[in-house]
Amino acid sequence: MPAPFLTLLRWPLWIAAVGTGAKSFADNPLLGSRRLNRWGLHRLRVRAAGAMTRWRRGRLAAGLSREDRAAFERQGYVEWPNVLPADAFERMRDAILGQAWPARDMAQGHTITRRIHVDPAMLRAAPDLAALLRHPRWRGLLRYVAGSKAEPLYYIQTILTHHEGLTHHQDFPHDGGTGAAADAYDPQNDIHADAFHPSMKAWLFLTDVALEDGPLTYAAGSHRLTPQRLAWEHERALAAPGLDPLSARGSFRLTPDELAAMGLPQPTPFAVPANTLVVADTFGFHARGHATRPSVRVELWAYARRNPFLPWTGLHLGSLPGLAHRRADILWWLRARLTRFGGLVIPPTTPKRPDDR
Ligand SMILES: [Fe+2]
Repeated sequence: MPAPFLTLLRWPLWIAAVGTGAKSFADNPLLGSRRLNRWGLHRLRVRAAGAMTRWRRGRLAAGLSREDRAAFERQGYVEWPNVLPADAFERMRDAILGQAWPARDMAQGHTITRRIHVDPAMLRAAPDLAALLRHPRWRGLLRYVAGSKAEPLYYIQTILTHHEGLTHHQDFPHDGGTGAAADAYDPQNDIHADAFHPSMKAWLFLTDVALEDGPLTYAAGSHRLTPQRLAWEHERALAAPGLDPLSARGSFRLTPDELAAMGLPQPTPFAVPANTLVVADTFGFHARGHATRPSVRVELWAYARRNPFLPWTGLHLGSLPGLAHRRADILWWLRARLTRFGGLVIPPTTPKRPDDR
């Protein structure tokens, strides 16, 4: 098909994408338009997404305790130690780690991220895990932070640091791999926000995480849309076409000085024992800490990102029983085939590019 005709086909998608969570300034000429952003397009999307998320969270507030809600509003994350009784945790960990599962690997710098999709077979093999995902506190907390009743996607994620000798970027198959060359640089070490709107990620650590292992870090309170943050978002959107590739795709990176200039603290590292859950709004600034020794971190990782402008919390087809824990593979397959038409049709089941993790 001739290129101008393809471009014509993409315009309706680019226009429709303005009303979705699409965030790449580099891939959508409307979102990347300096003129539209000067007129306030990006600022408007940030404010509207923030307002709608507050509205939806308000409707989900009855599902979590006053303490969890207060902690979240204060910090942008909730830390829940000793999630499971010790014997149930050991049983769950043994059931998950005691057998081989199909995995997808990706290399970023000298770090490998390995993901195993939590599917019905794993839930049958690990009934403590299945029960945990239905636990009222677990559900209420994840739904509130996500601002949605949509069932999160769950993965067993392993992060291996100091993996020397990597020569190429492997990215997750069927997911629009970038094929970019890898070097020692791991973009996850940069402080960043995942997107212009709130979204939820959760980590239940299956292994102890020490400071030396490069733990997850999060700048407490950075999930709030303050006037300083809004002004910063506006400036970054204007500069986006000329920024680093990951910022240009909508996951803005920033320096410790910029954090401080917005009146925010430096990120807190989550050096925590196994059986601790951290649930966070990744509109807040976070990063993977620098590992100072070779380490292996294993966690149950949850991810929920939906159209941030939706006024409702439910009505999510992918959460239907029987589909909820199968949809990652289905959507992966579909996405690989539809991204060529603009990359906007199917929301990513797992972050498709290194900017997101
Ligand atoms: Fe991230």
